[in-house]
Amino acid sequence: MPRSRTRHHGLAGVGLIGTSFMGRAHSVAWAGAPKFFDLPAPALACVAGIDAAETHEFGRRWGWMRSTADWRDLLRDPSVDLVDVAVPNHLHAPMSIAALTAGKHVACEKPLAGTLADAHRMRDAARAAARKGVRTFVWFNYRRAPAVALMHRMVRQGRIGRIYHVRANYLQDWGGPSTPMLWRFDASAAGSGAHGDLNAHIVDMARFVTGEEVVEVSGAVARTFIGRRAVTPVRRGARPRTARSTVDDSLAFIAQMSGGAVATFEASRVATGHKNRNTLEVNGERGSMRFDFERMNELEWWDETQVQALRGWTRIMCTEPVHPYAHAYWPPAHLIGYEHGFVSQAADMVRALSGLEPEVPLPDFEDAFATQCVLEAALRSARTRRPVLVRSVVRG
Ligand SMILES: NC(=O)c1ccc[n+]([C@@H]2O[C@H](COP(=O)([O-])OP(=O)(O)OC[C@H]3O[C@@H](n4cnc5c(N)ncnc54)[C@H](O)[C@@H]3O)[C@@H](O)[C@H]2O)c1
Repeated sequence: MPRSRTRHHGLAGVGLIGTSFMGRAHSVAWAGAPKFFDLPAPALACVAGIDAAETHEFGRRWGWMRSTADWRDLLRDPSVDLVDVAVPNHLHAPMSIAALTAGKHVACEKPLAGTLADAHRMRDAARAAARKGVRTFVWFNYRRAPAVALMHRMVRQGRIGRIYHVRANYLQDWGGPSTPMLWRFDASAAGSGAHGDLNAHIVDMARFVTGEEVVEVSGAVARTFIGRRAVTPVRRGARPRTARSTVDDSLAFIAQMSGGAVATFEASRVATGHKNRNTLEVNGERGSMRFDFERMNELEWWDETQVQALRGWTRIMCTEPVHPYAHAYWPPAHLIGYEHGFVSQAADMVRALSGLEPEVPLPDFEDAFATQCVLEAALRSARTRRPVLVRSVVRG
């Protein structure tokens, strides 16, 4: 990895692009980080959307100083020194690369890109920008669930030992036949479906927690169950239309990790009954750990080194001040939620730009590119029905 000469000037102002789901989550994050954590507050300098009136209203409601309907205008704003990219996947590359070229730090949503080619260009732009002290970050927010950060620490403390298995599922059920056509079902905007959306998170989490890389993917199976979706809204008097979904609704694969562990990954948007079941289990010679985001404040641990009579699954409530990030929020067992992962990530990014260490490592474009290569290997394995070495998809 090229050596970076990071400017440690802190973070004076943020510019956000995108005003919907992630636009809201990131607005909470930037505003909350300096309140919960003892950090200087970046200005919420500018927000960019598509419609001027709607973006203005969003900015007023969520505390942004200025709004624009032209994201390039945000890049020209001297009070913005980090650009936050929270838009559909095919826009990650043009917006991030333009921001890096303008000398702005970038925090981009996941997956790094819809396609490997875009991700590759982003990584190269990040490498060039790093030489000028410009930083990149990717919003793999689940790393900052205290329980997941604790898993990362426990592996490094040697509590799990040699890792045999990684078992990761990310299951949702909102993508059934009644869900209309969205950019998320259009390969030209999203790249892939449940795969890039959900497997991106659990591949990142598996790499982050174990410290191992995915070296080979095999047995990938991709399915599109709902081939056509209604186009909405239907104009008055017009006949209802449908459009073809060009992405997977589900993709599962088996993988080999660099330390020898066998891993399985499964993502679905049609796993009825599962709303946001992001689960990660690691089994090692000294013990096991399992996490389920639907019970995000808890971590389950099996200590294989305990005397046999006392071995059993321990449920750890990860809300004590000694747990990662928990010190910043509420008293023990006064639970935290979805948005806190984003607040904690924003805090770590402010810290990193001030020359301080993040509480646990932050993913940059280089790191997210490694995850993107795993996603690509799985797509190729699904297409060819053959094992794919991850290094075979990396071009330089
Ligand atoms: N980290 C997570 O857990 C998480 C969760 C959901 C989505 N995401 C990612 O976040 C990104 C956005 O997803 P979302 O759920 O917020 O999507 P969304 O459809 O809810 O919102 C997309 C936003 O992009 C804006 N946009 C589109 N084109 C634009 C343009 N040219 N200029 C300015 N704004 C533009 C839209 O106005 C909208 O506000 C995606 O990459 C997605 O994969 C991440």
